[in-house]
Amino acid sequence: MSERRRVVVSRRLPSEVEAALAERFDVQLNPDDAPLTTEALRRAIATADALLPTVTDRLSAEVFDGASGRCRVVANFGVGVNHIDLAAAVRAGCVVTNTPDVLTDDTADLAILLMLAVLRGAGAGERRVRAGRWDGWGPTRDLGRRLSGKTLGVVGFGRIGQAVARRARQGFGMQVLAWSRRRPSAEALDGVTWVESLDSLLPQVDVLSLHTPGGAETRHLIDAHRLARLPAHAVLVNTARGDVVDEAALVDALAGGRLAGAGLDVYEREPVVHPGLLGREDVVLLPHLGSATLESRTAMGMRALENLVAVFEGRAPRDRVA
Ligand code: DGY
Repeated sequence: MSERRRVVVSRRLPSEVEAALAERFDVQLNPDDAPLTTEALRRAIATADALLPTVTDRLSAEVFDGASGRCRVVANFGVGVNHIDLAAAVRAGCVVTNTPDVLTDDTADLAILLMLAVLRGAGAGERRVRAGRWDGWGPTRDLGRRLSGKTLGVVGFGRIGQAVARRARQGFGMQVLAWSRRRPSAEALDGVTWVESLDSLLPQVDVLSLHTPGGAETRHLIDAHRLARLPAHAVLVNTARGDVVDEAALVDALAGGRLAGAGLDVYEREPVVHPGLLGREDVVLLPHLGSATLESRTAMGMRALENLVAVFEGRAPRDRVA
């Protein structure tokens, strides 16, 4: 590239990624890591050649309203793009890309971690030990339930859903049922049983793990009605997007004994967590850790950079979503 393109990066990124971006571009980094305001995002779209945002940035139509035609690409750091108004981005002349693949294994690992943590009471146990409230081992104390051999329902059968299914089958001998809007190929199913409707999958599972994209189409996909279809001994795990679950309905189901527990990595109003969840011993609550390893986050940054370079060089970016 002959000229150095101006790229605005919305949050702090792993140092290796920031160095690689600075080498290629006239880059505006965010060393303080404070999320950009709507006005700052608007300014970036109006004055830069590219924006590298992430899940904490709300890129509404308002942000794209001020577009001057300069910004060519919004290279999202992350696979989910439900925080971006894609139609508005396209109207403003911006290509939108994401970073799939590189975070699949870590996110799938975290879903399994949550299943184990909830079923084995790891969260409650850890809290008790730290609080000095553990007074010793006993044959009938702290009895959780086994994950191995149980039935898992996977909702959303893309890369991460498939990686979770593989772990569950191969690592834990689980029977796996799956539902998603489009029927996967036989190759992708690979021993997983396809179920035609979500409502008929729910009563059959011991653990339900969510892997759909976020956004209007999946908002409250798991609502009070669907929670009521789960067996009372079932556990819900969400590493997808918070608003896929009606959090208030989840709190009601747990409080009413209609669901045995939940493992959550994402929330409807992040970073705010429903107060009805905070005091419960039968839930494990993580701070959106799905892709939070140095390996994934570095690879995500490098993938975003690869997408930027492709657009600026006039090539089709590998991960175009709009
Ligand atoms: C994603 O990739 O969408 C994650 O939720 C952010 O790390």
